[in-house]
Amino acid sequence: MLVSAKEMLNKARDGKYAVGQFNINNLEWTKSILQTAEELKSPVILGVSEGAGKYMCGYKTVVGMVNGMLEEMKITVPVALHLDHGSYEGALACIAAGFSSIMFDGSHYAIDENVAKTSELVKICNEKGLSLEAEVGAIGGEEDGVIGKGECADPAECKKIADLGVTMLAAGIGNIHGKYPDNWEGLSFTTLEAVKKEVGNMPLVLHGGTGIPEEQVKKAISLGVAKVNVNTECQLSFAAATRKYIEEGKDLQGKGFDPRKLLAPGAEAIKATVKEKMEMFGSIGKA
Ligand code: 13P
Repeated sequence: MLVSAKEMLNKARDGKYAVGQFNINNLEWTKSILQTAEELKSPVILGVSEGAGKYMCGYKTVVGMVNGMLEEMKITVPVALHLDHGSYEGALACIAAGFSSIMFDGSHYAIDENVAKTSELVKICNEKGLSLEAEVGAIGGEEDGVIGKGECADPAECKKIADLGVTMLAAGIGNIHGKYPDNWEGLSFTTLEAVKKEVGNMPLVLHGGTGIPEEQVKKAISLGVAKVNVNTECQLSFAAATRKYIEEGKDLQGKGFDPRKLLAPGAEAIKATVKEKMEMFGSIGKA
C-alpha cells in the first residue's frame, strides 16, 4: 500500500539520512526502483512530473500501475507516490487519482499567492492523510520546460510557507536540475543553515540530486535535508546502457528485437544508479 512520505521523512531527519525520490517514466523504471528499494530495505519515493504523468497515460494509469506492482512484487518497504513540481490543478488531479504525496511548486508565484494556494492544499492533504511538499526559491535548470535561475531561497519566506503546516520544504540553495555547469559554485550551505534556523524541525528537500559531489550531499543531509531528488542521472544511465546494447549489435541477434531484452540493460543500469544513490543518502536498511 502506498504511504504518505511524512513518517519516512521524519525518521530520516532524526536519523540523519535522506530518502531518495527517483522520478519514473515507464513500467521498467518503476519496477527497477521498487526492486532495488525492496532488495536494499530502503524506503523510497517515486516522483512523477506532470509531463511524465501525461506520457504514462495520466495519473490514474500511474496509480494503477504502481499499486499493482506493490502487490504483485510483494513490496514491504514504505513507498510514496509523489507528484513532482505540481501545479495547483495538477495537485488536485493527483489527489483525486490516488497519489500519496504531493509537491505544489508555487515558487514562481509572488509569495502571497504561493501562501494562499499552499494553504488550500495543506487543508486538503491533511484531511486525506497525504504529505505535501512546498517550494520556495526556484530550483535552477529545467523543470518540465520552465527555466529557473538557481536562486537561493529567502529564509523568511521559507518560514512563512513552513508555518502553513506543509510536511517538507524544498528551498533553493543554488541547486540546479540536470547536469551542473563547469562553473557551478556548489550548494550554498549559508542559505541552508539560515533556512534551517527559520523552519526548525521541518524536513528539507534537495532537488537536482544529479551530479552534486558526495561530500556536499552528505553535508546537506547533516544540516537537515531528509529527501534528495534524482531524475537526470537515471535517464543518463538508462540511455547509455541502451545505446551501448544497440551499438554492440546485440539487438540484431537472435531475440534481440524483443523489447523485454532491448530494455533490460537500461533497467539494470537504473538499478545500479538507485543503489549508488541510496548508499550515498544512507537510507539502506532503514525500511
Ligand atoms: P535532477 O534531474 O537534477 O536529478 O533533479 C531531479 C529533481 O530535482 C526532480 O524534482
